[in-house]
Parts: sequence; C-alpha cells; structure tokens
Amino acid sequence: MRALQITEYGDNSVLTIADVTLPHPTGSQVLVTVEAAALNPLDAALRSGYAQALMPLQFPATLGGDVAGVVAAVGPDVTGFSVGDRVYGNAYTLLGGSGAIAEQALVQARNLAAVPEGLSSVDAASMPVAGTTAVEAVDHNLHLQAGQKVYISGGSGAVGSAAIQVAKHLGAHVATTASGDGVDLVRGLGADEVFDHTTDDFSEHLREFDAVLDAVGGASLEKSYGILRRGGTLVTVIGELDQAAGEERGLTLVRQAAQSEEVLRELTGYLAAGVITPRVGATFPLEEAAAAFTALETRSVRGKVVISLLS
Ligand SMILES: NC(=O)c1ccc[n+]([C@@H]2O[C@H](COP(=O)([O-])OP(=O)(O)OC[C@H]3O[C@@H](n4cnc5c(N)ncnc54)[C@H](OP(=O)(O)O)[C@@H]3O)[C@@H](O)[C@H]2O)c1
Repeated sequence: MRALQITEYGDNSVLTIADVTLPHPTGSQVLVTVEAAALNPLDAALRSGYAQALMPLQFPATLGGDVAGVVAAVGPDVTGFSVGDRVYGNAYTLLGGSGAIAEQALVQARNLAAVPEGLSSVDAASMPVAGTTAVEAVDHNLHLQAGQKVYISGGSGAVGSAAIQVAKHLGAHVATTASGDGVDLVRGLGADEVFDHTTDDFSEHLREFDAVLDAVGGASLEKSYGILRRGGTLVTVIGELDQAAGEERGLTLVRQAAQSEEVLRELTGYLAAGVITPRVGATFPLEEAAAAFTALETRSVRGKVVISLLS
C-alpha cells in the first residue's frame, strides 16, 4: 500500500510516496483502510524538523494523525470495534499509530471512535486533533459555564471555531479574533464580540473575563492575562505561560499539550448532535500531498486541508 513518508526533515521536497507493508494488528491495534486524512499545523512542524526536540520521528516516518476510514482487521485485545466499522481518530506515530496519510493505518483502539451517523469520511477526518483540543480546553480545563465570558483567540482556525461552537452551546458569552473572511465566519458561529487582529487590539476592549482559550500564542497570549478577572482561567494550546503574570492576578494557568482519551468520544457526541460542524477548505488526492502541505503552510485555504485516499 502507498504511504506519504519522509526519510529526513525538510521542506516539501522530502515528501515521498512509498510502498509500505503493514504488519497484521497486534494487541490493541486496529488496522484501518484509510479514506481520508487531514493536515494540522503540527504536521508541517514534524516534516520540517521544527518539532524534533520534543517529538522526534523515526525514519522512514509516515506523516499524519487525523484519520477516517473502515476497520480492516483488529488485534486480539480490541473490543468495541469490528471489521467493516466506520471509524475516525488519531494515527500519529507519536501516539502508537503508523501514520494517517496512507492507504492503510494501524491505530491504537483507544485513539479511535465510531464516525457519527451521516458524517462523510472527509468531514470526520477533519475533526479529531482540532476538535478534541477544543473540547478538552472548554469542558475540562476551562470548565466553562452558562453566562461566563470567554475570549477565544484564533476563532477562525480549526481549534478556535470548534471551541466557539461548544462555548455558545454551553451558553457562554464569546469574544474572539479573526481576519479577512474569518470575521464573517466567526460571526456565523455565534461569536458575540469579534476583533479583526490586523486592525484592532482585543485587549483594549475586554475586561473581567472568566476564561481565555489561547490558540495563537505570542503577543496575543501576552495580552490575554490583563483581560481576565481575579481567579479566572487561561488555557493555551500553543504558547509559553507567564507564571508571574498569572500569580499576580490569581489566575489558573494551563498549558494543554495533549488530550485525554475519552475526549474523542465527547467530540463524537458534539458532532452527532450538530453542536460542532466540520469545516473542510480543500481536498487533495495523495499524489498532490505536497500541494496540500503548501496550502496548509501558506494559509491559502480557509478550513481544514484534507487528503482523500478514495480514488
Ligand atoms: N496543544 C495541542 O494539543 C494542540 C492541538 C491542535 C492545535 N494546536 C496548535 O493550536 C494552534 C491553532 O491550531 P489550528 O489547527 O486551529 O490552526 P489554524 O486552523 O491554522 O488557525 C490558526 C488561527 O490563528 C489565527 N491567527 C494567525 N495569526 C494570528 C495573529 N497574528 N493574531 C491573531 N490570530 C492569528 C488565524 O486567524 P485568521 O486566519 O482569521 O487571521 C486562525 O484563526 C496551532 O499553533 C496548533 O499548532 C495545539
């Protein structure tokens, strides 16, 4: 079967489509016939080597985490999945998978869930990483309640847009940032206050917020401490925390680096109920994986970039 692999770090020139044979699943592995795999910012960081200090790859490495497809075989310890089930989840090699961007992938059963009824494989593949990140942050780290005020940076992105939808579902007041056509997008998701980060500074307008979900980092994160009320909570999924700024204001600070396993099932509930709607920007065949990475890195596509393995 064909797989998108690299044997060294670099730009898109290191991407190759290799012929790979996967072993029969053992233990709690599930062999998935991949129908779609989505790209995340992490995939470009893994390919380039930017993330290698924290997340070194073993070469040859099959890229990709977000995956959707059909169960082809299960290991002896797998319960809850059978051959023919439609599944989606996370096939990152860092999480014990074999990599998503391939015609077949081995995935740990704990990193898989049933595709919600009516969701296409392309839509399902677009959700696991960004969706679980948003659900973990809003439900488990911010513990957001109805009537609370939350600021979500990068609301037009994959994590931010899922977080806005969950926060509005919970009855929170949502302020967010976006630019260009992202401004209309986040308004359409129900955001109550929208700031174009290219022309306006959210921190000059927001005060006494209960919660912040930072999906941008850098200067945006630095300005977020000052908008929180004493005792508020700040979660970042990308930036470095300023503990002194947090202590000064009595904040709870969380650097969210990974998601707990049950969150994929919670995401499935939100997708099944229509609380979170997938947003796919472009689909590429495996042969055009380099173009897919370019679309991701140049941010030329609004919405998720998905590689379809269905011919
Ligand atoms: N910790 C984890 O487990 C985890 C999991 C998933 C993702 N992440 C990280 O979370 C971040 C967001 O991921 P994603 O998949 O949502 O990315 P994405 O879809 O590319 O979204 C990026 C967002 O950032 C906004 N943005 C870009 N530059 C900005 C700036 N200078 N000021 C304010 N906003 C800016 C964009 O807004 P406009 O395009 O509208 O300008 C967009 O909304 C990435 O850094 C990713 O690596 C972490």
